[in-house]
Order: sequence, then structure tokens, then C-alpha cells
Amino acid sequence: MSSVSFMRVKSLIGALVAMFVLWGALGGSAMAEETGEAKHGILIVAFGSSVPEGQEAISAVENAVKRAWPDTEVRVAFTSRIIMRKIAREQNRVIDEPAVALAKMAYEGFTHVAVLSTHIIPGAEYQDLEAVVDGFRSMHSRGTKAGFTYIGLSLPLLSNANDFERMAKTLTESYSNEGRDGAVIFVGHGTHHFSDAAYSALQMALWRVSPNFFVGTIEGMPSYDDVLAQLRKTRNKKVTLVPAMLVAGDHAQNDIGGGEDDSWRSMLSKEGYGVTPKFQGLGQVGAVQKLLIDKLREAWGDQAL
Ligand code: CO
Repeated sequence: MSSVSFMRVKSLIGALVAMFVLWGALGGSAMAEETGEAKHGILIVAFGSSVPEGQEAISAVENAVKRAWPDTEVRVAFTSRIIMRKIAREQNRVIDEPAVALAKMAYEGFTHVAVLSTHIIPGAEYQDLEAVVDGFRSMHSRGTKAGFTYIGLSLPLLSNANDFERMAKTLTESYSNEGRDGAVIFVGHGTHHFSDAAYSALQMALWRVSPNFFVGTIEGMPSYDDVLAQLRKTRNKKVTLVPAMLVAGDHAQNDIGGGEDDSWRSMLSKEGYGVTPKFQGLGQVGAVQKLLIDKLREAWGDQAL
């Protein structure tokens, strides 16, 4: 291709792109103006999971939200691009990341949106989501038609002092049978981020209820060694391992309950404990779904639905 015709093609493409952008902008605002009505929507945001067990937990949360807001459209976005690409490749399903999902909702004329964060702690992933939501919020605050009239974002499950007690109550009640004659270890993800401290705070809240409940993390504090040191001080011989993550996906199936030598299950068995791993994410626990619904309700603020 000669450089002259290449330039022509380039400018043609440029013109087409400009036309599409203009068409989109006009179409988008025209749609919202046409009806002039409020249109409410909920966006559930999860890290994502490519294994069926993990997707089950996300669907469970989605269904709980739909039951709580039966007249509101509910959508799901993932934050992990690796998982989104894997699902697109293997299952031929397109899942959007939050910024794309919100842009589509704005284009489709949604005026009021609440975003449900399914994060356990306010770590790096939550901060990223906050930045996206803030972006959409600031579009509108500049007096433009862009963005939404209202956009709210829920706080993660472990965000403030009340949350630790509520979560401790929820977990100890949900696993009261296992905690009666044995230890229950809730294994969270853990992070390098400062918010990792939330897991230690949850441990203190659990010990107020019973000495049989422990919190550990895979990548943060309390570590496996921290938990083992505390567990040894008790008379427990039986241990139930519970993933303290939204989904019982890869980490639950490998790092926590897997058969490899370095899984928590194998290491604790080697210490002489009778270990039962659970393969259920927090998203599948009804009482935790209730906590998420409460967080989402807070995100709506005083918006009438
Ligand atoms: Co991980």
C-alpha cells in the first residue's frame, strides 16, 4: 500500500470513528431524555471465578440480590481480566469489567445505579473499584448529562468496627455444629495491603464468641504458622477448614483443601488433626448474603426505589 492511500484509509477510519462516537453520544442522551424517567440498576462486582463451584457462589449472591430488589435490573461484572478472558475463550461468554458495565448502563439510560462490592476487605481491588465509581460520579457532578443522576458503592464486608462483630456472629452461627466439638479455621485470601489487618480484627471478634474459631490467610496475617501456634494451645483434635472468600474457587480447592503436601489440609493432617475441608464460598452462606444485602441497601442511601 502506498503512503498516500494509507493516509486516505486512515482518515476514513478516523471519520468513521468520529461518526460512531457522535452517534453514540447523541443516541445515549436521547434515550434518557426520551423517557425522562428514572431507571434503576444494580451492578454486582466480583473478582470472578472460572471454576463452576466459584460461579455458583456468584450466582447465589446474584439471586439473593434479585430476591431483595425484584423490580430492579441486576448485572454482574468481574475485575479479573485473566478470568474474563478465560471464560470468553472456554465458555464463549462475555463478562464486562466494572468500567465497561457502567458505561453500557449509562448508554442504556440507567439514571440510578448501586454497585455491590463483594470484596471482604477494603484492599487494592476495592480501591480500584472505588476509583471507577468516583469517575462516573464526577462526570455528573460537572453538570453534564454523562454518568448517572445517582451512583452508590457498597462497602466491603469488613469495613468498620460493627462489621467484625456482625461477621463473627454470622460465621459462628453458620458453623456452630463444627465449632462445638472441634476447631473451625476460616481461611481468607490475605494481602500485602494495609487492610490485611481486618483479618486479625475478625480473629479477636471470633474469640469473644468462642476459643474454637480461628482466622488464617494464605497471603497475609494471621499466617498458617500463626494459626497453628494458637490451635496447639487448645485441646481440639478435629479441624474444619472454611474458605473465608466469596467463592470456593482455585484457592479453596488447592491451597486450602487440596491434596498437595503444602495445602492447609495436608499440613494440619500431618500435625495429627482430623481435617474436614468445606468447599463453600461465603457467597453461598445465606447469613453472609444478608450482610451483603444490607451493605447494598446502605449504598442506595435515601434513594427511593
Ligand atoms: Co489469589
